[in-house]
Amino acid sequence: MTAYEIISAKRDRQTLSDDEIAFMINGFTAGRIPDYQFAALLMAIFLNGMTPVETKSLTEHMLYSGIVADLSTVPGIKVDKHSTGGVGDKVSIPLAAIVAAAGVPVPMISGRGLGHTGGTLDKLQSIPGFRIDYSIDEYKKKVALTGACLIGQTASIAPADKKIYALRDVTATVQSIPLITASIMSKKLAEGIDALVLDVKTGRGAFMQKIDDSRDLAKNLIAVGERFGKPTIAYITNMDQPLGRMIGNWLEIRESIDCLQDKGPADLMQVTHQLCGAMIYLGQKAVSIEAGIEISKLMVHSGKAWQKFIDIVRSQEGDSHVLEHPETYPRAKFQSELKADDSGYLSRLDALEFGLASVQLGAGRMQAADPVNPKAGIELHYKIGAKVEQGQVLATLFSDDEEALNRALDRLSKAVGYAASPLAAPPLLIEMLDKNSL
Ligand code: URA
Repeated sequence: MTAYEIISAKRDRQTLSDDEIAFMINGFTAGRIPDYQFAALLMAIFLNGMTPVETKSLTEHMLYSGIVADLSTVPGIKVDKHSTGGVGDKVSIPLAAIVAAAGVPVPMISGRGLGHTGGTLDKLQSIPGFRIDYSIDEYKKKVALTGACLIGQTASIAPADKKIYALRDVTATVQSIPLITASIMSKKLAEGIDALVLDVKTGRGAFMQKIDDSRDLAKNLIAVGERFGKPTIAYITNMDQPLGRMIGNWLEIRESIDCLQDKGPADLMQVTHQLCGAMIYLGQKAVSIEAGIEISKLMVHSGKAWQKFIDIVRSQEGDSHVLEHPETYPRAKFQSELKADDSGYLSRLDALEFGLASVQLGAGRMQAADPVNPKAGIELHYKIGAKVEQGQVLATLFSDDEEALNRALDRLSKAVGYAASPLAAPPLLIEMLDKNSL
């Protein structure tokens, strides 16, 4: 077997065998296959796709390039959730606490923000002292003791993905459904989960902007999850406008606190309860997703989810005082207001532009090594459908860089649209898919 023959086969639209895929993944991870040959394979996959069986093999060899956490001694059915990423999407934070409070253990390995999308790790690290760098052994102990642990990808989790993603990033091969599927699922399966809920975003601020692509990705992710024996449910949710009202790391922790204290904005509460309901159902603590949603609401109303969040933060060495007194958190040096330049009903709050503006303010990064400012971000005062008057403040922007505020304001003035007559907000939960949808 040679890399040349395998690349040629994929170029000529042939199906690769499990052995051929293993040869390429193991060879590239170990440094035996050079970047230029692996890049050619990636482009052939990008252009010609992969069958479900090939995608499963690819996921499997990427998964076993590292270790798979063994959580079998942790009682209960372990369930995680993955979002394909969006703007203002802080759902993982309240969700982990709600689901753990309902008695379903949540092992969660999260990522950092990149480009216009935020990352759970950056948000959590805005809490002073919060650690995300535990070993797999410590992670396992914390899941058992607290019911949830949220950490970053360690060097031992799917190292093949790390190397392959870096190459995809510079060879224009990121937007490939089999490659995205194997990348996401190799990391999720390494967490030691028994079941998985996926939030596949669609729209302006999403990775996949078209609904058909989002559906295709959801089906591929479910197919791989189920082939590994992990029941998987996916929701396609709208990401045309930011989720909730806050964008930016600490601002999103503040909104997560609101959510856990039952004061969160309606759209955020709706997505959170739906995903929690599905997780509680998969974790066999509810007979249906609907019953799971009721339990999720009860965990919030009763204060149990809020208490669980404090427990998780303390267990990961974070300062819980600041969560109980968020007004004591330092504020950004400068703030500015985005004002409506027309009157009417808000018809567009472009999630992509809001995400990029928050990066300009310092809340995100364009390169993996860029620093982020926990205090920077945007607070939205209105969402699509609201009636506004010219000059009314639509959003407040926060940054430590005064110049950046002006650049972001300029960008956002073009990201807002107005309609003359009332309009409904776009539907948030678009579709639910599971193994029966394949
Ligand atoms: N997120 C991932 O983890 N991998 C991809 O390929 C795309 C999004």
